[in-house]
Amino acid sequence: MRMIAAVMYEQGLPAPYAESLPLKIEEVDIEGPGEGEVLVEVRAAGLCHSDLSQVAGLRKRTVPVVMGHEGAGIVREVGGGVTELAPGDHVVMTVGSGCGHCRYCIGRRPVLCDAVGASRAKGLLLNGRRALSRGGSPLFHHSGVSSFAQYAVTVPGSLVKIDPSIPLDVAALFGCAVVTGAGCVFNAARVHAGHTVAVIGLGGVGLCSVMAAKVAGASQIIGIDINDSKFPLAQELGCTHTLSARDPGLVQQVKELTGGGVDFAFEISGSKPAMATAIAITCKGGEVVGVGMGSSSDLYEYAHTALVAEEKVFRGSLMGSCVPKRDIPQYLAYYQQGRMPVDRLMSGTMSFDALNIALDRLENGAVLRQLLLPHR
Ligand SMILES: NC(=O)c1ccc[n+]([C@@H]2O[C@H](COP(=O)([O-])OP(=O)(O)OC[C@H]3O[C@@H](n4cnc5c(N)ncnc54)[C@H](O)[C@@H]3O)[C@@H](O)[C@H]2O)c1
Ligand SMILES: [Zn+2]
Ligand SMILES: [Zn+2]
Repeated sequence: MRMIAAVMYEQGLPAPYAESLPLKIEEVDIEGPGEGEVLVEVRAAGLCHSDLSQVAGLRKRTVPVVMGHEGAGIVREVGGGVTELAPGDHVVMTVGSGCGHCRYCIGRRPVLCDAVGASRAKGLLLNGRRALSRGGSPLFHHSGVSSFAQYAVTVPGSLVKIDPSIPLDVAALFGCAVVTGAGCVFNAARVHAGHTVAVIGLGGVGLCSVMAAKVAGASQIIGIDINDSKFPLAQELGCTHTLSARDPGLVQQVKELTGGGVDFAFEISGSKPAMATAIAITCKGGEVVGVGMGSSSDLYEYAHTALVAEEKVFRGSLMGSCVPKRDIPQYLAYYQQGRMPVDRLMSGTMSFDALNIALDRLENGAVLRQLLLPHR
């Protein structure tokens, strides 16, 4: 079948992206579903800062790649052997599936599955296949999802069936922003009632952490950003305080507010100075949770004896340390109950022709989640 998709051929083209056009909007071929695969009509796909980082070349990708790793759509066809999904099902498209039988999958940590990591690095589906091409030349998959396209072929593990009454544009956000932002709070940090929390980086992912920390009952939720325009919504969604990352007195203010530092500091901006702030504002015995992703060459230093004497914990959280079929229905229930109003993160919808401009808007910090509607 032939369809429209956004293809990245080269990383590291300069901003403004509206001029360098890193995402080429093209007709491409999609083949399948084969045995054990599913064809999804993509109805909405969100633009994440990780897309921007890859366009900028901060982390390498196998190119040419059909971009997009967050989305929602409708199952149109299932391949042989697929029993859990049927044509007409509404699904969230997400990254965190696993092989199901390695030590990580058995231990309910499928985002760490070696098979997923290997297929992601090669730009293939989890079953080792490739369904995308253009003019007979291969195109690669993004994280087994490739949602910046009218259709996607993927494996059932990358799909979570949802209640069809949930609007598909809202549902798309659950594929990355919500599962990551909420999951780092619930699964990685395990925030409980009474804990104090700081979220550094109040973008699409960070605001989901704010909402989740509120659901978890955190007593103080301190939102920190370099961009003050993010503060009013952060306060509405649960921040008890908002502080500027540009304020030289920031660390002291957090220590005063919390009596010595927060229990959990979530770094969700991907900026190296923000990681230093996260370390500085965490109390003794507290946890620094790394969620933002900068350049793959970034390194951090920490004083050896202070690590021991202060008993701090450093923890990473990939895709909210999720088990997609367990967590996404739970977070959708919080949304339906009005406890996580993630629709507030939507900064408008667009068709393919606006995708490169949308990269500029995200880089300039003017927006939260912008949604591609591939059939508009
Ligand atoms: N761990 C994961 O699995 C995972 C999943 C998705 C996204 N990410 C990463 O999470 C980060 C956030 O993604 P997003 O889509 O929410 O991005 P976003 O662009 O919507 O938000 C980033 C926010 O960080 C703020 N910021 C930038 N520098 C800062 C600094 N020094 N101090 C404080 N705030 C600062 C920006 O103003 C912005 O509000 C990115 O690095 C992204 O790559 C990680
Ligand atoms: Zn993402
Ligand atoms: Zn596995």
